[in-house]
Amino acid sequence: MSFFFVHSVAQSVSPVVIETNNIAIVLTVAGNQRLHQSYIGKKLPFSDYMAMKGGREVYLTAGMENQFEPAVRMIHTDGNPSLELRYLSHKQTDSGNLKKTEVLLKDPVYPVEVRLYYVSYFKEDVIKCWTEIVHREKKNVLLTQYASSMIHFNSDEYWLTQFHGDWAREVNIVEEKLTNGIKSIESKLGTRTNFYQTQMFFLSMNKPSTETEGEVLAGTLAWTGNFKFTFEVDQRNGLRVLSGINPYASEYNLQPGEKFTTPEFIFTYSANGKGLASRNIHRWARNYAVLDGNKPRLTLLNNWEATHTSFTETKLVELFDEAKKLGVDLFLLDDGWFGNKYPRNDDKNGLGDWQEDKLKLPSGIGYLVKEAEKKEIKFGIWLEPEMVNPKSELYEQHPDWILKLPNREENYGRNQLIIDLVNPEVQDFVFNIVNDMLTKYPGIAFIKWDCNRSMTNAYSPYLKEKQTHLFLDYTKGLYKVMERIRKKHPHLPIMLCAGGGGRTDYGAMKYFTEFWPSDNTDGLERIFIQWGYSYFFPANTISAHVTSMGKQQSLKFRTDVAMMGKMGYDIRVNNFTKQELEFSNEAVKTYKAISDVIWFGDLYRLISPYEESRAVLMYVNENKSKAILFNYFTTTRRKDIFSRVLLQGLDHQKNYRLKEINLFPGTKSTQPDNEKVFSGEYLMKVGLNLAPGRANALSSTVFEITAD
Ligand code: DGJ
Repeated sequence: MSFFFVHSVAQSVSPVVIETNNIAIVLTVAGNQRLHQSYIGKKLPFSDYMAMKGGREVYLTAGMENQFEPAVRMIHTDGNPSLELRYLSHKQTDSGNLKKTEVLLKDPVYPVEVRLYYVSYFKEDVIKCWTEIVHREKKNVLLTQYASSMIHFNSDEYWLTQFHGDWAREVNIVEEKLTNGIKSIESKLGTRTNFYQTQMFFLSMNKPSTETEGEVLAGTLAWTGNFKFTFEVDQRNGLRVLSGINPYASEYNLQPGEKFTTPEFIFTYSANGKGLASRNIHRWARNYAVLDGNKPRLTLLNNWEATHTSFTETKLVELFDEAKKLGVDLFLLDDGWFGNKYPRNDDKNGLGDWQEDKLKLPSGIGYLVKEAEKKEIKFGIWLEPEMVNPKSELYEQHPDWILKLPNREENYGRNQLIIDLVNPEVQDFVFNIVNDMLTKYPGIAFIKWDCNRSMTNAYSPYLKEKQTHLFLDYTKGLYKVMERIRKKHPHLPIMLCAGGGGRTDYGAMKYFTEFWPSDNTDGLERIFIQWGYSYFFPANTISAHVTSMGKQQSLKFRTDVAMMGKMGYDIRVNNFTKQELEFSNEAVKTYKAISDVIWFGDLYRLISPYEESRAVLMYVNENKSKAILFNYFTTTRRKDIFSRVLLQGLDHQKNYRLKEINLFPGTKSTQPDNEKVFSGEYLMKVGLNLAPGRANALSSTVFEITAD
């Protein structure tokens, strides 16, 4: 570990260089001691950085000469609404693949310090940055804006890709040119935060980027709460990108000496399109950001779509048998197992009362865990610990634990309210629900953590007159609870769910092993939804279940779609035909055999379903000895003519054998290249004809590609 410290103010400071294997940011100190961003982009010779100066101020303040959206705005104790930040010092520490840079900025008049942090991940080409704000004034300072980062660009054009959606139609991709003024992508939803907009974007320079071409920045914010990205193109075509917590309704009273730490903004920069940017983020996520990101995941059978809340103990044990027949690792019991005074037979009752429903489960959870063990499968359980139904004992006993406005009617989302996670007593309650359950039933091997509403009419009884801290403190409260859970149960797999994909961000993913992308499990829809998430999340985090949604699609098609992510099932196996059962049982085995390539390999999106009526993608393992290719025809019509598909990521020199896998019993491959051997060069330059004869809508092919 090397360490160096540069002091300045009077002496001239050499540029601060933040570098990874392929990208760099260069910060320079101007004559007036303001800190400028002089460069961001491809790595250059060091001598170029040393010659750099000028640029734009890195962390623009409000109230002085800046006329644009500021990164930080505060009102001092004496009412002065301005801030000036001058460079004071910086230090850099190096520990192998990670390098941390800390730059200290200070106001020359008011006792305010701002620290800018950058951690660069050399091999992954990812940089994360955040900010810390502290003051030593006599009384509180009011912070009204507090970005995690500000990045400047100077290109001819800027193309922004965003991912927006709603329930059951998450992460639709839109790319558009930024024009003068401000475009923001933000959330004010509190919980279930990225229901409409997500914390991920691409910014392409000069022209839209493709999967393989163009300069592009991929950015995301590690915050499970209100977020905001602001893209401001000024009168000289300069672009400022601000990232951070959404300051909406969230002015923060910062006490003297208290540290205000923003969440991390994570980004990578690719000179070769979005595909490389995704792979950088995936690698970084698996290595550093997702809980047990490099470890295997469990295949499972869930009962939500199969039974909803109507089941009995006997029926569940039958379902264990179905899980066993399928060959999956785990049975996941979903919503509906709890509540006695108000049994959870629908979504109006019982939320908050986390005791087994004695009518449905007279022998309790312990019995279910044991029965599952007997059948040699693991057992997992659904919880929605942050929520309460008005019809619950929790609501009756703790009205002061609930987020709701005084003097106004309660406002429900899915007939429920949110409990006040800002309150340490409520944090204890939530921690204890999970911890007690895991302590009492150590056999529980998996949790699905749900969150089915966003914040409306929210008011924290605990915060009293400090309501503007609610959005921030709620998320911090959630993290405190998760920290405690993870301290005691460091590796228990937990799926994060928010009524579909309402919570998918890297602030949460360090506590979770996977997430639920959507309640829409129709195979066709899932191609688009999983495609969208694949830009920022590795396949082992994207749960994909085979269900009976999309009945017009074959079981094979739905299974092939689930296989491109973290496969599971939510279906009545006993309703399968003999062949369907045989197929599914084989599919689980096949998936187990190839999942290391899918989960830990490099993803190449070859043909987008947004551009053609098909989707083709492949995963390649690290040493390029094995790849899995998925080919889906979507709304294909007779008129469609499909060109050959050029594969990517293989070794030009190696020879690869192609084998169609996951075929339905009694069918044979119709692929002309099945069982043939081609060089990597051929596969990537000449490519494959994946649509011989007529391509049928809603059909699919999976190829295992193995180096000979
Ligand atoms: C919403 C989730 O997205 C579903 O998968 C299911 O768990 C229900 N909640 C249960 O209420």
